[in-house]
Amino acid sequence: MYRKDRQNEFYTALAKKDGYPARSVYKLQEIDKKYKIIKENSQVLDLGCAPGSWILYISQKVGNRGKVIGVDIEEIKIPKKSNITFIKKSIFDLKELDFKEKFQAIVSDLSPKTSGVKFLDSGKSLELAEKSFEIAKSVLLPGGNFICKVFESESSDEFFKKVKNCFDFAKRFKPKAVIKKSKEFYIIGRGFRI
Ligand SMILES: C[S@@+](CC[C@H](N)C(=O)[O-])C[C@H]1O[C@@H](n2cnc3c(N)ncnc32)[C@H](O)[C@@H]1O
Repeated sequence: MYRKDRQNEFYTALAKKDGYPARSVYKLQEIDKKYKIIKENSQVLDLGCAPGSWILYISQKVGNRGKVIGVDIEEIKIPKKSNITFIKKSIFDLKELDFKEKFQAIVSDLSPKTSGVKFLDSGKSLELAEKSFEIAKSVLLPGGNFICKVFESESSDEFFKKVKNCFDFAKRFKPKAVIKKSKEFYIIGRGFRI
């Protein structure tokens, strides 16, 4: 078996055991442990939240006095929780009116449907990341935190610089659960400045 398949199988089995619908939860868990993104009692926006591992992790972390709103074009596959609201919509169709509140953290694990053509896929990923950042700039509270997945490309560096300018601290990070060969990485921003 290839190393990539073994790594996939390990995290998939772990997710099943821990009650999460996808292994991507371990990417968020590692980022959150290292960079302290999700705070108890806070309000969080999760862009591209299906099937629902990140939103479930966030719902547990913010607790009953916190709240998490998730957005996706696909349905989520998790049990109903009182602190989770799901909006079935493309992020490109979101309006500010969809949110009554601002957020302490915004996370985006958005991925396009990949074609296997690298420059097309990284272009679509960047479009999603740019839109997430635009949303963050309108509904993230000052001092808030941001996580955004993006596929590595010539333009992703430019995007990182734009994000970095708006935060006290910014970092590129590749969690252990991301397959080594994968082009995906996460931009972490802490301390949003308007
Ligand atoms: C890697 S999955 C997210 C996994 C999720 N973080 C979890 O832990 O379950 C990427 C998601 O992005 C969503 N997506 C892609 N384009 C989108 C768009 N324009 N608007 C909303 N969601 C989108 C896909 O439907 C998919 O569910």
